Amino acid sequence: MFPERFNAIRGLDSKILCSLLSQAAKIKSSPESYASVLKGKTILQFFVENSTRTRLSFEAATRKLGGVNLSFSAATSSLSKGETLTDTVNVIRQYGVDGIVVRHRSMGAPDLLSNATGLPVINAGDGAHEHPTQALLDAFTLGEHWKVDFKNPDCFRGKKIMILGDLRHSRVARSNIHLLTALQAEVHVCAPSTLMIPNLELFPKVTTHSFPDSVISGMDALMALRIQTERQTQGVIPSLAEYREFWGLSVERAKRLARKTVILHPGPMNRGVEIDSEVADSAASLILKQVENGIFARMSVLASVVGRVNS
Ligand code: NCD
Repeated sequence: MFPERFNAIRGLDSKILCSLLSQAAKIKSSPESYASVLKGKTILQFFVENSTRTRLSFEAATRKLGGVNLSFSAATSSLSKGETLTDTVNVIRQYGVDGIVVRHRSMGAPDLLSNATGLPVINAGDGAHEHPTQALLDAFTLGEHWKVDFKNPDCFRGKKIMILGDLRHSRVARSNIHLLTALQAEVHVCAPSTLMIPNLELFPKVTTHSFPDSVISGMDALMALRIQTERQTQGVIPSLAEYREFWGLSVERAKRLARKTVILHPGPMNRGVEIDSEVADSAASLILKQVENGIFARMSVLASVVGRVNS
């Protein structure tokens, strides 16, 4: 039976991950056969931290599966009057809720809600912990580009992927490392030492680099991450201009890439810092494909976690 929570990639069996990816491919090719999977069900979109694409794609995915959205806005809610997270959710569920999509600045908030409510929960990003549906849509986008068979648990074997940028604050990077290594990709991470993941022992399969230039030409994919200025209480990089010069996917650096290398970025982008516009908008970029595929990846997760459909 599919688990009633999708709060982390870590610890999930690769069979489950492959079934979600192949189901996303099925949904993309025939969305009409999934149009009533959430019929009669209400999904609480509980976003306590800002979001554009994740929130909109979860709402669109819910509608395309025939479900109804109940949307929560943190700034205008009683959370700002000191109500606890569990109290707030227990109040909202009285209006009838069959599943919760949650984004929160604190790690572990989705698990807290799973345990406190007993409802199906999907993590839409919790602090610097995980962002499992982003990793799923990234792997789906790469696998679609490489035309892999998602039913095969080692479908990314032989592929080299580098994640470059603010790894320290990135839940996207953590979920991606778990998923890409589960599919047997060779994962490289690169960041200034102050932006590297602090507890790398939790990610034993990755290869780390301080600078990208000697290795980027061998990569099949490069994923640039946003410099998360809002999470940096101390100055961890001397200046954005120096960051761009040594680690950014600048026009000059992109010239070192092989013709086969594709570019990803989870968004939102700081153009001219971690990625130049010419690179983000180039033929090698899969960035808008990631956005498009976000709906199918999220439909797949909602269908399995709340709709109890298994591909
Ligand atoms: C990411 C997030 O919120 O973790 N964005 C997203 O969901 N597409 C990455 C980021 O904020 O930089």
